[in-house]
Formats: sequence, structure tokens, C-alpha cells
Amino acid sequence: MEWNKPQLFDIVKIADPRGNLSVLQMPGAMPFEMARSYWITDVPGGDMRTGHAYRQSQEVIIALSGSFEICTKGIHGELVYKLSRADRGLYVPAMTWREIYNFATNSAALIVSSSLYDESDYIRDLEYFNEIIKQSAQ
Ligand code: TYD
Repeated sequence: MEWNKPQLFDIVKIADPRGNLSVLQMPGAMPFEMARSYWITDVPGGDMRTGHAYRQSQEVIIALSGSFEICTKGIHGELVYKLSRADRGLYVPAMTWREIYNFATNSAALIVSSSLYDESDYIRDLEYFNEIIKQSAQ
């Protein structure tokens, strides 16, 4: 797998009538070492998180329960993904605008990140982001 653009990938799933188990084990499962993970819960049904991009951070987003949609924007254009399985991840490279929205009630989003939290790594202005992408494409 070439990890140079947003893409869905399968995560190992050990199916079991007692409950399924999935695992991300390094090296091999993702294109980066995990530095941090966080999760988003208790989002009112149908709501969205504000969009942003990271200058350096890469991430993997997983719907641990429920479902939501993710729109990514960047040099690869605009793409929409629906996440609803705990054994499927969305890889999001650095310099990708992403918005998470349409959360089903009681959804849980797990985000695995390549870096520690750093507000200066965020780009929160879509126009500014689009300008950088436009310039990098020239
Ligand atoms: P943020 O990443 O801005 O989420 P969203 O764009 O979906 O609103 O995070 C929301 C707040 O949480 C922000 O004030 C920063 C804080 N935060 C941390 O302190 N550590 C973290 O690892 C993350 C992801 C956020």
C-alpha cells in the first residue's frame, strides 16, 4: 500500500462470538509510529466537528462504534468516506483538510496520531489551506 494519500484500509479483526477484537500493531499496521491517540464521543446525532488540517501530523481515524462521514480535501481533490466499522481505518496524511460530520448517536471516533498535541501544527482556515495547496501544485 502506498501511504501518500487519504485511503481506507483494513485492520486485523479476530472474529469471536464473545466479541470481535481488532488490533493496530507496529511496525506494519500504519505508516507512522503512534505518538498519541484520542477519541471523540457524545457528539449530538447529525452534528459535525470543525474542519482543519495538520502541517506535519498524520492520523488514522476509526469508527469504534456508530458511524460518521469524513470529507478530505487536498492535492488529491475532495473525497468523502463513510466510516462504520471498527476494523477499518482512514489514513489521513499531513496537509489534508478533514471534516468529520453526520455522527450517528452514540458514535465513538478513535484518532491515532503521529505526533503530540501542538496547536501550531493546525491549519484552521480553509481559504489559507487552499492557497497553500494551490501554490504547492504550481
Ligand atoms: P480540536 O483538535 O481543535 O478538535 P475540533 O477541531 O474537532 O474542535 O480539539 C478541540 C480542543 O481540544 C482544542 O481546544 C484543543 C484540545 N485538544 C487537546 O488539548 N489535546 C489534543 O490532543 C486534542 C486533539 C485536542
